[in-house]
Amino acid sequence: MTFARIAGTGGYLPERVLTNKDLEKMVETTDEWIQERSGIKRRHIAADNETTSDMAVAAGRKAIEAAGIETGAIDLIIVATTTPDKVFPSTACIVQRRLDIAKTPAFDVHAACSGFLYALDIANRFIVTGGATNALVIGSETYSRILDWTDRSTCVLFGDGAGAVVLSTSDEAGIISTHIHSEGKHEELLHVPAGISSGYADVQREAAFIQMKGNEVFKKAVNTLGSIARETLEGNNLSQKDLTWLVPHQANLRIIKAAAKKLGMPMERVIVTVDEHANTSSASVPLALDVAVRDGRIKRGDMLLFEAFGAGFTWGSALVRY
Ligand code: ACO
Repeated sequence: MTFARIAGTGGYLPERVLTNKDLEKMVETTDEWIQERSGIKRRHIAADNETTSDMAVAAGRKAIEAAGIETGAIDLIIVATTTPDKVFPSTACIVQRRLDIAKTPAFDVHAACSGFLYALDIANRFIVTGGATNALVIGSETYSRILDWTDRSTCVLFGDGAGAVVLSTSDEAGIISTHIHSEGKHEELLHVPAGISSGYADVQREAAFIQMKGNEVFKKAVNTLGSIARETLEGNNLSQKDLTWLVPHQANLRIIKAAAKKLGMPMERVIVTVDEHANTSSASVPLALDVAVRDGRIKRGDMLLFEAFGAGFTWGSALVRY
């Protein structure tokens, strides 16, 4: 039987850093409020000419290098993003061209903050069924372009960045199980109201930016992350004690803490980057993974639980032997 394992990770954060103090000059907010309600201290913001594919390529290159393979060995590219460079072609096709990879399947996955978990699920299925041997799976987002920088309730929460993994065939299960779900009835609690088919060019200015009923999203996120963690562990006859690290979506430190508490996971075994990155949507889990792999916390053989929750609502998890 063929399995998939994470052969390498990579990450990229734009050079420009925007602190809470900087935001105090832009909207009526305080460093204290932002830290207390979200745990965020700073976020990275793409340069004016920097795009989602720029960041995806940078993170992808690092993941390929870490996997110790040639770029030409990649035979599947999936980019999770809700902020693509263009309506078409897909960001994955742009990444493929820029990495000079020939004729592999390349496509985008759109599942908001759960996008990376969806992409990982799909890439894993390709590998175990013999459809790919080295898949480049990237989460990359430029949320700074869909934020209303006059709306203090949303603009303080997000950042830009990209994270990537190379999934390769293996005799042993690296990706042990993946779990993805959606519940579209919550569409209006967290959305960008305008889209291509609903007249993007003619919309009111505010409809082109993120709108969120933060309180309601918060409650749903905590409960859903609790249930997906249970589903994943019970499905594998494991308990929290079998996990080395929880690598959660980085939306809000209070959500991360509440979800960890529901799982019985001490915060010392939870990877937290929300303070430095803010919410980078589908980039957040692979970026957090890459940070912890590179600083030596996550080691080969560790048992990891990834989990994410986002607009849709969508949510997902993966149990991974790194
Ligand atoms: N600075 C100062 N005050 C603020 C700010 C700000 N930046 N933003 C809001 N406030 C005010 C509000 O106006 C409100 O004032 P009022 O009481 O006078 O009306 C007060 O602070 C409290 O606002 P709440 O929204 O109730 O604050 P809450 O404690 O819920 O925190 C937050 C808000 C941080 C948004 C939280 O609800 C949250 O993190 N929600 C979930 C976000 C999330 O997980 N998103 C999912 C993924 S994103 C994706 O998929 C794209």
